[in-house]
Amino acid sequence: MVAAHNDGGRRMDIRKIGVVGAGQMGNGIAHVMAAAGYEVLLNDVSQEALDKGLATIRKNMERQVSKGKLDRGVMDAALARITPTLTLTDLAATDMIVESATEREEIKQAIFEELVPHLEPHTILTSNTSSISITRLASRTDRPGKFMGFHFMNPVPVMQLVELIRGIATDRETYDICLGVVENLGKTAASAEDFPAFIVNRILMPMINEAVYTLYEGVGNVRSIDRSMKLGANHPMGPLELADFIGLDTCLAIMNVLHDGLADTKYRPCPLLTKYVEAGWLGRKTGRGFYDYSGETPEPTR
Ligand code: CAA
Repeated sequence: MVAAHNDGGRRMDIRKIGVVGAGQMGNGIAHVMAAAGYEVLLNDVSQEALDKGLATIRKNMERQVSKGKLDRGVMDAALARITPTLTLTDLAATDMIVESATEREEIKQAIFEELVPHLEPHTILTSNTSSISITRLASRTDRPGKFMGFHFMNPVPVMQLVELIRGIATDRETYDICLGVVENLGKTAASAEDFPAFIVNRILMPMINEAVYTLYEGVGNVRSIDRSMKLGANHPMGPLELADFIGLDTCLAIMNVLHDGLADTKYRPCPLLTKYVEAGWLGRKTGRGFYDYSGETPEPTR
C-alpha cells in the first residue's frame, strides 16, 4: 500500500516516511501512515516525548480495534513499522518527511536547516503547519519544488480531511505524489493556496476567536456559548470546547498569523484568549482552559 506515480516513465514510490514531532499531531500522523502500510521513522527531541507518542498511538489503535475499525493483526504490523529515533538526521534517508513540530517558524526552519544537508535528492519535504507560509519555509531549503504543506486535522485518525498547500515553487509531481499518499491513507484532500492559515483555519479560527469575544463581552457564558453552537448549528463540539481541544496557544498563534499576514483588524486576537495563554491555561493539554479538566467531567471556568 504505497503511492506509486508515473512521471514520464520514471516511477516514484513512497515507502518510508519520516515524521518530525511525536506530539498531538505527529503521533496521529505516524499512526495513520503506519496503518496504511508505510514504514515510519518517528523523531522527537526527548525519549519521554517519543514514549508518550508511541503510547498514544497504541491506545488509539486499541480503541479502533475494540470498535472493530482495525484488525489486531494490522495493528501489530503497523506498530512494528514505526521506528522511534532521537536523531533527526536519521530521517534523511526517507522518501518523504512530514514536519509536525511546534507551531513556531524558527523551530520549523531550524529542523529543515539541520535536515537539508543530509537529505536524499528525491526526498519530498512537507510541513503540517496550520498557518505558516509554505513558500517561506520552502525558500530556506534546497528544494522549494519538492516542498508542500500537508495539513492534517485533529484527531488525525478520525478526521477525513488533509489540506494540501502548494508553495509558489511547488512542482506538479510533488503535488501528485502527496495526493497519492492522502488517497492511500483513505482520506480526502482539499487543495488550498498558500495564504495565511489556508482554508480550514482561515474560517475556523475567526469563529473560535469570536466565541471568545462573546464570552469576554458577557454575551454568554462558556456553557451557553458551546451549547448554542452544538445544538443551534450542529457542530460536534462547541467553539470553546474545540479551542481547548486544539490548544489555546495554537489558536492564538494562528490568529496572530492572520492578523499580521492579512493586516486586517477583523483578525485581532481577543484579549481574553491572550490572557489565558499568558496564564498557561492552554486547554486540555494543561488541564485547564475554558474548562477545568481536573475532575471526572470538564467544568466551565466562566
Ligand atoms: N484516535 C482514534 N479514534 C478516535 C480518536 C483518536 N484520537 N478520538 C476519537 N476517536 C473515535 C472514537 O473511537 C469514536 O469512534 P466510533 O465512531 O467508531 O465510535 C469516534 O472517534 C467518535 O469519538 P467519541 O465517541 O469518543 O467522541 P465524539 O463523538 O464526541 O467525537 C470527535 C469526538 C471526533 C473529536 C468530535 O467531537 C469532533 O469531530 N470534534 C471536532 C473536531 C474538529 O473540529 N477537529 C478539527 C480541529 S481544527 C484542526 O485540527 C486544524 C488545526 O490546524 C488547528
